[in-house]
Amino acid sequence: MNDAASHERVQAASLPEASEQAYRSLGHRHERLLKRVLDLGDYQRLARPRLPRAVYGYVANGVEADVAREDNRKSFQDWRMVTRVLRDVSRRSQATELFGHRYGAPFGIAPMGAAAVVAYDADNRMARAAAAANIPFVLSANSITPIEELVRNNPNAWFASYQSPEPDKVQAMVERVARAGIKVYVVTVDVPVSSNREDDKRAGYSMPLRPTPGLTWDGLTHPRWLIGDAGRTVLRRGIPVISNLEATGGVSLLSREVATIAGHSDFTWKSAELIRKFWKGPLVIKGLLSGEDARIARESGVDGIVVSNHGGRQLDGAVSPLDVLPEIKAQSGDMAVLIDSGFRRGTDVLKALALGADFILIGRPFLFASVVAGEAGVQHAISLLSKEIDIDQALLGLADIADAGPDMLRKG
Ligand SMILES: Cc1cc2nc3c(=O)[nH]c(=O)nc-3n(C[C@H](O)[C@H](O)[C@H](O)COP(=O)(O)O)c2cc1C
Repeated sequence: MNDAASHERVQAASLPEASEQAYRSLGHRHERLLKRVLDLGDYQRLARPRLPRAVYGYVANGVEADVAREDNRKSFQDWRMVTRVLRDVSRRSQATELFGHRYGAPFGIAPMGAAAVVAYDADNRMARAAAAANIPFVLSANSITPIEELVRNNPNAWFASYQSPEPDKVQAMVERVARAGIKVYVVTVDVPVSSNREDDKRAGYSMPLRPTPGLTWDGLTHPRWLIGDAGRTVLRRGIPVISNLEATGGVSLLSREVATIAGHSDFTWKSAELIRKFWKGPLVIKGLLSGEDARIARESGVDGIVVSNHGGRQLDGAVSPLDVLPEIKAQSGDMAVLIDSGFRRGTDVLKALALGADFILIGRPFLFASVVAGEAGVQHAISLLSKEIDIDQALLGLADIADAGPDMLRKG
């Protein structure tokens, strides 16, 4: 099925059905494998032995003592749900409107830097799967897939920048992103400096990438990744280059410069306001955890925020986004409130919607799904989660997911 035809069918059907259809069109090669995948966590378990330890750790790990990442999962346990019965839930919808687009589900794929180093062509594959299911895909500035190439695979893609604050560079970057056809500009703000990822260092994952004996052995003992993912990437693109940090040029993963690109500690609200001045479309600030920052974002003319602790990868011991969602919602006015970090289940999604979130982003599971089965894996993962949401909303008595509200929650 070509892209346009598959997209039309998706528009016509509900998401659980549509993503199932889209997945079937791709999934035959992986059918037996994917029968063993029953929830998003299964993708991580299956991906682990396929990846070198350093590459797996780069995706899976948190930071320092891993408190923030673990807390993200625990925060969902603080809430239990009250079902409502004998309502007609025979026709259910999880379609959700955001920034003028009606998405097939209330979740999208979070930006993940260097994804195509983890799995061959992962950015494009995740982007195509997201397009087929009509959910958002967010490309990271730190990716090796250029924005312009990605948009050819998903004309509705969003972009998440890490950028320097100099006004002429801001303007040039905004112009590049607009020219490429990106629909939503996300500014990631919780990386003023790179975080202290000790486990990455222990495993030999560093920027620039250095083929130490340990890392070389790690690669050689995972030939499927070495040839099928890393080798194919180098054949296609040469030495990977981080392509989307500035309007022109890129930084090779092997160059010394790459160690200094993460984080601009002089990027401030003034810089965000400058982006607002140049960018005409929806603007989203990603990585807020404080109600006060939500207020400043609103006053800066931002259209949306992502309440996020970066999946527990930045400040260890940072509060879980779900715990601060109500206080942030109270300050958000007309801004859309998105949330991420640790969402794995339909019930997680419904709890956040009930607490006032408008939309959810999810990272690691979709990248692990690309490792396991490429685009079909990502489509299957989207379909698994949307089916969970579909069952959960029926059990909660919610025909329309927009009716999720605080009355369905109790402290656990
Ligand atoms: C491998 C990896 C790379 C990431 N790179 C970026 C990035 O470049 N920009 C960004 O805004 N967030 C980045 N994040 C954070 C995600 O966008 C998201 O906030 C987080 O993964 C959500 O948590 P989850 O993975 O538990 O769903 C990255 C996350 C992972 C796992």
